[in-house]
Amino acid sequence: MAPPSRPRGSVFALFSCKGGVGTTFLTTQLGSLLALRWQLKVLIIDGVHPFGDAALMLSQNEPQATLGDLLARPERFDHTLLESALLWPQPHLGVLAATENPLQDLAMRPDWLQSLLEIARERFDCILFDCGRTVDPQMTPILHAADRLLPVLQTTLSMIRDGRRLLSTLIAQGVDPAFILPILNRVTPENTPQPKTLERALGAHILHRIPEGAPLVNDCIQGGHPIWIRAPFHPVTQSLIILARALILVPEPRRDVSQNLLQRWWKKQWRWNPQHF
Ligand SMILES: Nc1ncnc2c1ncn2[C@@H]1O[C@H](COP(=O)(O)OP(=O)(O)O)[C@@H](O)[C@H]1O
Ligand SMILES: [Mg+2]
Repeated sequence: MAPPSRPRGSVFALFSCKGGVGTTFLTTQLGSLLALRWQLKVLIIDGVHPFGDAALMLSQNEPQATLGDLLARPERFDHTLLESALLWPQPHLGVLAATENPLQDLAMRPDWLQSLLEIARERFDCILFDCGRTVDPQMTPILHAADRLLPVLQTTLSMIRDGRRLLSTLIAQGVDPAFILPILNRVTPENTPQPKTLERALGAHILHRIPEGAPLVNDCIQGGHPIWIRAPFHPVTQSLIILARALILVPEPRRDVSQNLLQRWWKKQWRWNPQHF
C-alpha cells in the first residue's frame, strides 16, 4: 500500500511509564506495520538498558553487533558500521539490538547520539527509539530530536501516577508538551475510567487506546510474528493501523504560538493530586 505521506527521517521516541506496559510490543509492531504496509524504510533502535528485547520480539537471529558495541568504539562510528550491525527481520525493517552486557556503562555521549540520529534520518523514513524507562539527561538529544514522544501507560493507579511523573520529567527537560502523545495500552471496557477522569488524572490528552489482546499478543511475541500478519482483523491490529496512520499523518504542532501558554498550563496541571481519582 502506498504511504499516505512519506515522512523523511521522522523520529518517534517510545517510553514506558512502568516496566511491562507494552512499549517494546508497540515499538516492534508499529515498525513492522510501517515497513510492510506502507513500504517505509524503518529503523528500530533498542535503547533499553539493561535487558532490551526488541530484536528478540522480531527475529530469532543473533545481531552482528549491538548498540553497546557501536558505543564502545564511538570514533569508528559511521553509516557503514550502523548498517552492518542491523538485523533485518523484514526487507524494509532494520533493528539495532540492545546492549547485550547488563554491566556495560551505556553512557551515550550527546554528540554520538546526535550523529546516530543524523545518519539514521538520512537513510530511514521512520526511526522508532525504544527508550524504556530512561529519561536521564544523557537522553536529552533524543528528547529534542524526536518528532513525537510516545509515553505508553496502562490504567492502573500506579501506572497513571508514574505516567504523570514521566510527563513532568520530560517537560522539565525542555520538551514541548505539544510533542508528547500518550498511548493507553491493554484497554478493556471494565478497566478504563471515563476519558475525562483519566485525562484529568494524567494531566494530558491520550492520543490513542490499544485494546487488550491476550493471549494472542503473547503468542505473537513468542513466535516473533507481527500481529498484523498473523491476525489482520484482530482489534489490536486494527488499532495499531489507526495509530500508525495517525503518526505518519499527524500535522506538525504549531511551534510559534501558544507554547508559553501550553507550558504554563502544564505547570498548573502538574501538581500531583490524588483526589483526582
Ligand atoms: N495490548 C496488549 N494486550 C495483551 N498483552 C499485551 C499487550 N501489550 C503488551 N502485552 C504484553 O505485555 C507484556 C510486556 O510487554 P513489553 O512490550 O515487553 O513491555 P515493556 O517494553 O513496556 O516492558 C508482554 O508479555 C506482552 O505480551
Ligand atoms: Mg521493553
